Amino acid sequence: MAQALGVDVGGTGIKAAVVDLSTGELVTERVRVETPKGGKPGPVVETIAGLVSDAKWEGDLGVAFPAVIRGGVAFSAANVDKHWIGTDVAALVQEAVGVKPTVLNDADAAGLAEIRHGAGLNVGGVVLVLTLGTGIGSALFVDGTLVPNTEFGHLELDGHDAERKAAELAREREDLSWKQWAHRGRALPQTRRQPALAGPDPARRRRVSKVSEKWLPFIDVRPPVQPASLRNEAGIVGAAMATADPVAGR
Ligand code: BGC
Repeated sequence: MAQALGVDVGGTGIKAAVVDLSTGELVTERVRVETPKGGKPGPVVETIAGLVSDAKWEGDLGVAFPAVIRGGVAFSAANVDKHWIGTDVAALVQEAVGVKPTVLNDADAAGLAEIRHGAGLNVGGVVLVLTLGTGIGSALFVDGTLVPNTEFGHLELDGHDAERKAAELAREREDLSWKQWAHRGRALPQTRRQPALAGPDPARRRRVSKVSEKWLPFIDVRPPVQPASLRNEAGIVGAAMATADPVAGR
């Protein structure tokens, strides 16, 4: 039974669990610790190392991180400390824990989990998974294969970064009704045959996929949209699954 430890790094919390890769189920209890204040690379990597050693884990390790990640290196930092840009996350984690991790974008991780074990199971063709939270993450799949680092949350909407106007945080900040907020979903790609899954951002207290009946009816896009099903475990599960995925983090 192939297993891997999945670590999901967020702005407020870092979560980890060992995952059974064939079922997508957690085989150890989910552990959550606070993200160190300031969220700088050194302290965050130390925290990851602490989680790995507490789990007494020596096998494959996957880390989901909220940035563009290619070859283990972070290339953006929209909602995290700017010191991450250019940081070789994989090398730092390897130095700290002795195992070379697979590092990938957090939305790509959530997407992998949803496609293989959640709401996207058996949905063929083009599928877009969106995570709505502090920012907007995106994971695009073509017949089950991930197209990494799409970052659709940074498309332009009314002259702004879309995530600034359409993330869950924007709804809270501007005290928008569900209908007003859903209208901002017009930034979503309008491709006719593109099913989309609206996923949670585990870092947010309110998870919009839990209350999807309040806003999904107002989403006025052609493709069928459905709520994600794995909720706050998707990042961990996808991070673990990435260790066996040929495209994740590339
Ligand atoms: C980042 C993405 C991330 C998303 C969700 C965005 O601000 O640019 O890399 O996937 O937030 O965390």
